[in-house]
Amino acid sequence: MLDFLKRNKTNKTFAPLVTDMHCHLLPGVDDGSSNIQETIDCLNIMASLGFEKVYFTPHFQYNYPNDEEDILQRFATLKKQLSTSGLESLPEVNLIAGEYRFDPRFARRPGIDKVLTLPGKKLLCEFSLHYNDYMPIEIFSEYIKLGYTLILAHPERYPYMGIHSKEVETMKQMGIFFQVNVLSLNGFYGDTAMKKGFEYIETGLAEYLGTDTHNMRYASALRDTANNKQVQKMMQKHTFLNSQL
Ligand SMILES: [Fe+2]
Repeated sequence: MLDFLKRNKTNKTFAPLVTDMHCHLLPGVDDGSSNIQETIDCLNIMASLGFEKVYFTPHFQYNYPNDEEDILQRFATLKKQLSTSGLESLPEVNLIAGEYRFDPRFARRPGIDKVLTLPGKKLLCEFSLHYNDYMPIEIFSEYIKLGYTLILAHPERYPYMGIHSKEVETMKQMGIFFQVNVLSLNGFYGDTAMKKGFEYIETGLAEYLGTDTHNMRYASALRDTANNKQVQKMMQKHTFLNSQL
């Protein structure tokens, strides 16, 4: 019974962020939400935790070679469906962007291939979660030269990348922003990612937080994370750039 009460206790822990910049809630796309009802359920939970605005960021990578035009069409359809569903309490579903994998098997060519960005030409990118086989300095530089701002998703989840590493130092010198996953802070991806997640925030290396919500399992973990005292304390102490998106 106590567990049940704890699980269902919600609060606005993430309200200062205003905006979630990273989730996979476009129904039926990649490994995210499987249908519109699951998307609505996840968005409801996000609203209850304080999010007012959400950007969908489907994967663009080797395993999920999504096509930008197709994604835009699916998003337009979803927006229409949500606008007629009478669910005014949901966060505003603002824009479609992408989470682009930079690795040897997949990379859009800067300036040639279309990419879906967050406002202000902010491109959310990620590395392999397993293999330290790529440090795409040239691609970073090309995008930066073209006026993009790069945001690296969940640096705490790359087991091969230390906070005090040369890679991190190089990326920071290039002006690359970091986005920590809030679920990391509740141990969703294990102890190491949790420790590193807090460290990236405490050292000021992470400018953004994202939920990376994929489905109800993630949304329910997000609710648990909102009830984590250490996370609540961190949210009071640190400010992030999410609300500017
Ligand atoms: Fe993601």
